[in-house]
Amino acid sequence: MKVLFLSPNYPFEMQDFTRGLAEVGADVVGVGDTPREGLSPKVRAHLAGYLQVSLQDSHAVLAAVRATGVRFDRVECLWEPFVELAAWLREQLDVPGMSLDTARAFRDKELMKQRVEAAGLRVPHHTRASTREEVWAAAERFGFPLILKPIAGAGSADTFRVNDRAELELALARTAHVPEVSVEEFVDGEEFTFDTVCIDGKPAYANIAQYHPRPLIARSNEWISPIVVTVRDMWAPKYKKGIELGLGVLRALNMGSGFTHMEWYLKANGEVVFGEIGARSAGGHLVDQMNWTGNVDLYREWARAVCWKSFEGETRRQYNVAIIFKRALGEGRIQRIEGLERYLSRYGGHVVAEQLLRPGTPRRNWLQTLVSDGFVCVRHPDLDATMQMAQAAATDVTLYAG
Ligand SMILES: Nc1ncnc2c1ncn2[C@@H]1O[C@H](COP(=O)(O)OP(=O)(O)O)[C@@H](O)[C@H]1O
Ligand SMILES: [Mg+2]
Repeated sequence: MKVLFLSPNYPFEMQDFTRGLAEVGADVVGVGDTPREGLSPKVRAHLAGYLQVSLQDSHAVLAAVRATGVRFDRVECLWEPFVELAAWLREQLDVPGMSLDTARAFRDKELMKQRVEAAGLRVPHHTRASTREEVWAAAERFGFPLILKPIAGAGSADTFRVNDRAELELALARTAHVPEVSVEEFVDGEEFTFDTVCIDGKPAYANIAQYHPRPLIARSNEWISPIVVTVRDMWAPKYKKGIELGLGVLRALNMGSGFTHMEWYLKANGEVVFGEIGARSAGGHLVDQMNWTGNVDLYREWARAVCWKSFEGETRRQYNVAIIFKRALGEGRIQRIEGLERYLSRYGGHVVAEQLLRPGTPRRNWLQTLVSDGFVCVRHPDLDATMQMAQAAATDVTLYAG
C-alpha cells in the first residue's frame, strides 16, 4: 500500500495521521512546503519518502510525483486548502478515491449547499454574489440579520453577521478583497459538529460536539475562552435530527472513505439546519478530544479506513471531553498564569491535557489560531459536570502577557 500524503507536517494533526498511515502498513510518501530538515522527528520516522514542493503549484506537485516513478494506491489530504489538489492528483495519476467533482462540493460553500438542498435537506437561504449590487439584492430578499462570508473560507475569517443596512456597508468594505461571497439567512440557535470516519460513505465512527459559544461569536470577542465539548451521549433524542441531517449530507455529497467534519445548527423550535462540511478531519484538537471520548486512536483508524476499508477502533463512548482555549490579557510575551494551580488541585483528576503557553513565550494570534494561547482539556462521564469544569477553566484561569 503506497500512499501519497499531502502536507504531512502541518497542521500539527497531520503528524499523527502520518504515523497512523505507517502503523497500518502503508509506505507513506509526504509532499509539502516544509523543507525536509524542518519535518518533525515523528513525521520523519514514519515517512518512506518526502518531496518538498509548493502545494500552491499543482503542476509542480504532479511532476515531482511522476518523477518518483512510484505507482500510488492512495492520495490523501486532510488539510482543507489542498483537499481539491489531492482529488485532482488522483484523477491525473489514476488513483482510486474521491473525484474532483465530489471534492469541490466539500469546499465550495455554494455548490455544497446546492447539492445538500437538492437532496431535500434544510440549508440556510443562500446565494452567491460577486458584486455589491448582487449582495444588496440578496439582502432585500432575505432581510436582516444575514451572514456574509467567502465562498471557500475557513476559521470564520472574513465572515460577518450583518444586522442592518449600515452594517452591510461596513461588511462590504471589509470583504472587498474577497472576489465572491456567500450571502445567507442568519440562523439563530445552538451550534454543533458532526464528525465521521467513513468507509464507502458510511460512518464507521461518528461524533457530535457542541461549540460554546458559536464560533463566530468566539472569533469576534477576544475576552471569550471558547469551549468545544464532545458529547458522550450523542445518540440522545436532542441530537437525532442532527445525525439524520449529517447522514443525508454524506449521501447527497457522495462521500467515499475518509474523515468528514460538518457543522450544523439547532434552532429553538427544534429545527436543524446545515452549516458546512469538509472532507477532512476537524482542526483545533477535536480529533484528540474524540480519541479521549472513547479511548480510540482515530489517527490510525482513519488510516485503516482509507487504506484497507476497515475500522478496528472503539466506538463506545465513555466521556464528554471539553477543551477550553485561553487568550492572554495584554500583548507580547506571557508573564504569568493565575488560577491554574488552584484549578488543577480541584479538577486535576479530570484534566487530560494542559498546554497553556508558559511565561516567556510570545502570544499567538487568536484570530489566526483557535488554539490561541493554549488550552486545558477535561473529561467526565457527566455532561453537566464536564461543562462546569470547562466554565471554571474559562473564568478562573487567566494568562497575563506584557
Ligand atoms: N447562516 C448562518 N447563520 C448563523 N451563523 C452562521 C451562518 N453561517 C455562518 N455562521 C457562523 O459563522 C461561523 C463560520 O462560518 P462557516 O460557514 O462555518 O465558515 P468557516 O469555514 O469559516 O468555519 C459559523 O460557525 C457560525 O457560527
Ligand atoms: Mg465552520
